[in-house]
Amino acid sequence: MSKNIVLIGFMGVGKGTIAREIVKQSNIFAIDTDDLIESMENRKIKKIFKEDGEEYFRKLEAKTAKWLEKNVKNTLISTGGGFYKVKNLKDIGEIIYLKSSFEAILDRIKKHPNGKKKLKKRPLLKDLNKAKKLYESRIKDYEKVADIIIDVEKRSPSDIAKEIIKKAKIEKRK
Ligand code: S3P
Repeated sequence: MSKNIVLIGFMGVGKGTIAREIVKQSNIFAIDTDDLIESMENRKIKKIFKEDGEEYFRKLEAKTAKWLEKNVKNTLISTGGGFYKVKNLKDIGEIIYLKSSFEAILDRIKKHPNGKKKLKKRPLLKDLNKAKKLYESRIKDYEKVADIIIDVEKRSPSDIAKEIIKKAKIEKRK
């Protein structure tokens, strides 16, 4: 396999958790676009939004997408919830959409031991009415760009990871 596997989906759906679980069960290595952006800028996403605004952040995502296309292969890439909009998304790898209802996403965040922190670090989740509208404006597009859609609602990360490993033909850990 030389292609990358790219996880997309709404904030809080569990992209990072599922990526870590896939790594645990397979031989693939993983990176995350928000982590790449934070290290490139040497500041947190929340601070980037606060100091320079969303438009600037989207430019950083576009820059990251170009770098990924050119330099990264055989890697699992988890992404920020708005990353799916980059122009070259399909050239980065196979796109896997983690699908869940908005209510289940909120539930997942609330139940998480670090739930408060998770809400705090995501500027676009601050206002839940706005977040719901954002979710609704994106769901169709997530499905449109996806090569594989995985329903993640009410399932364990381990079970979801198994399905992704099978469908994306990732080499299992021995
Ligand atoms: C965003 C999602 C965040 C982060 C930024 C913007 C979005 O990532 O990239 O706050 O536009 O949906 P997560 O999906 O990991 O929360």
